[in-house]
Amino acid sequence: MTAPVIEVMRKRHVKHVMPIETAVHRKPWSASVFNTEIDLAKKGERYYIVLSVMGEIVGYAGLMFAVDEAHVTNIVVDPDHRRHGYARLLMCALAYEAIRTGCDALTLEVRVSNTAAQNLYREFGFAPAGVRQRYYENTEDAIVMWAHDIRSPEYLERLERIVTRVESGGESCAV
Ligand SMILES: CC(C)(COP(=O)(O)OP(=O)(O)OC[C@H]1O[C@@H](n2cnc3c(N)ncnc32)[C@H](O)[C@@H]1OP(=O)(O)O)[C@@H](O)C(=O)NCCC(=O)NCCS
Repeated sequence: MTAPVIEVMRKRHVKHVMPIETAVHRKPWSASVFNTEIDLAKKGERYYIVLSVMGEIVGYAGLMFAVDEAHVTNIVVDPDHRRHGYARLLMCALAYEAIRTGCDALTLEVRVSNTAAQNLYREFGFAPAGVRQRYYENTEDAIVMWAHDIRSPEYLERLERIVTRVESGGESCAV
């Protein structure tokens, strides 16, 4: 099987990201939002990546930097390619980038109903820290989750364990 490839998201990727984004999210980002985020990434304020399998983009994810924290803005895997560890690979790449840029913590919001994503985030050391009521569509609550001390030896060991697990499952990744 061909190894998935992770690379920095470019504007030429956006037309391949959009069908996944619109299929998955109730309030999808527009292409222009992605393009603006890519412009901010060029200034070091964001980080966006795409994951491709056999040349086809099947997932993407992003970070927004705020002082010494990085906020996960988006992580999506095409429904036809789930449960292959691709979100785990994307999260590893985000976490390593946050560490590389000197962040101490990762944070995000997740729907109360989104147990799949919550399971993924727990594996990366995220713990619930609060609730934003009616955050989504003024209806569904968001759980705010944080992973602290991401530059600690313990957190780096956690990431190494995840990478080893991914590789032992045959999903090593070219970055
Ligand atoms: C959440 C999402 C990114 C996971 O993508 P994925 O590539 O299928 O995830 P992985 O294969 O890397 O799974 C890693 C772990 O996440 C958890 N997980 C993923 N999908 C799950 C599901 N349907 N049910 C329960 N746990 C799940 C599991 O712990 C899984 O480990 P395991 O397969 O060894 O049990 C994907 O379901 C998705 O795109 N959802 C829609 C977008 C979204 O909700 N993004 C998060 C917004 S906060």
